[in-house]
Amino acid sequence: EMKDNTVIVVFGASGDLAKKKILPALFGLFRQGYLPTDVQIVGYARTKMEKAEFHSRAVSYIKNPDKDAAISAYDDGSAFKALNDHLLSIEAKYTSKERNRMFYFALPPNVFVPVAKNIKEHCYAETGVNRIIVEKPLGRDLGSARELINSLMQYWSEEETYRIDHYLGKEMVKNILVLRFANVAMGTMWDKNSISNVQITFKEPFGTEGRGGYFDSFGIIRDVLQNHLLQVLSVLTMERPVSFSAEDIRDEKYPPITQEDTLLGQYVGADGKPGYLEDDTVPQGSVCPTFAATTLWIHNPRWEGVPFILKAGKALNEGKVEVRIQFKDVTQGIFKDITRNELIIRIQPSEAIYMKMNTKTPGLQTSAMATEMDLTYNRRFADAKIPEAYEALILDALQGDHSNFVRNDELDVAWKIFTPILHWIDGSRPKPLSYAYGSRGPAELNAFVERYGYHRSPSAYEWPVTNLG
Ligand code: BG6
Repeated sequence: EMKDNTVIVVFGASGDLAKKKILPALFGLFRQGYLPTDVQIVGYARTKMEKAEFHSRAVSYIKNPDKDAAISAYDDGSAFKALNDHLLSIEAKYTSKERNRMFYFALPPNVFVPVAKNIKEHCYAETGVNRIIVEKPLGRDLGSARELINSLMQYWSEEETYRIDHYLGKEMVKNILVLRFANVAMGTMWDKNSISNVQITFKEPFGTEGRGGYFDSFGIIRDVLQNHLLQVLSVLTMERPVSFSAEDIRDEKYPPITQEDTLLGQYVGADGKPGYLEDDTVPQGSVCPTFAATTLWIHNPRWEGVPFILKAGKALNEGKVEVRIQFKDVTQGIFKDITRNELIIRIQPSEAIYMKMNTKTPGLQTSAMATEMDLTYNRRFADAKIPEAYEALILDALQGDHSNFVRNDELDVAWKIFTPILHWIDGSRPKPLSYAYGSRGPAELNAFVERYGYHRSPSAYEWPVTNLG
């Protein structure tokens, strides 16, 4: 564990990720007393920036920054020597020889390798623990991901490397393991015998405006499905681990996604909102998908035949991330018009777990109606503070806990599943279906999910408005 004598270096300190997520998370941890009191945070960036300017940028997201910023380039060994001197000067006041250094790569991927090499050569603490934290994009396909991972591993061991997927730090994603494995009732219904189909849905109400340059070269599949939604799927479907720290989330049998199981969309302007192609940072005529639905299958005894539909889109009608597990029909006979059970895990906003179920309509008549068992967090845990994903993960990394990070071989599996479909999209450039900015997605989506056995609830069912939180 990194306790005393720890320095955290944030590379890419002038960028957006650092400003919006990493620095506020570090400050949040500090304020809650989770960081060593003498921790020092050093910002390193390629952009020339005065300390004062760096501080004022950071201030827009955190309240009392008072830390140092060092400035230089990423491929320049002498700059890293200078960074090391700076770290040594900070560490000079330590009373023991122990020096712990954590290096956060809030960086574009083209500099991952030079930075990894330079810090290993010039900034590696000889007497203490060294760790790097890296995050997506880790490659564009199986080949490039392996190349990148191997290059990084020339300098940093698996033990020293923490690959972030911030969805694994979200409270409700972490809760899935507890829900499944600490409840007998949940555990027994968690398989193909009870479950008809599963949807994991990511919706954002805004487009890629301003971020089109990055986005267009990746697309929604690399941006959200191959990492965030697949990680949620893996936690939903894995076998019971021996312990929370066990490293066997992982080697499930997933075949690659096929074209038939894929639906792609791209948003067009509506109601004064610009279409994807109207963004200046997007190349003309781009066929980059901003919406994708893909169905995965898992070939093992627990899940054979159950479709897992991952769908994600930008510029939709709402912002929401949820898992929707739809159970099979009850055997027909005495009931008509009853709804299927559904277990919904709402990851954000307003964390909740609820089970859609049938109950007798209260009163003298003998009919059934659809209702829900409801665990909405802001009512049940009104005073709880739900940590930010990045806070939870940075704390794990400081404590040397790898269980919520993406292992090397797991990343390999993730790319194997998605590489064929990505190569098809990159090579054949299929034209995505259009959908209007602010809509639910392409009109074809309903038919797509129904193909996998999803039944829409009878229209009589409505989630009570008071639960929306
Ligand atoms: C990022 C994607 O990884 O996750 C973004 O690059 C997306 O496109 C973001 O907006 C969503 O994260 P969150 O935590 O807001 O759901």
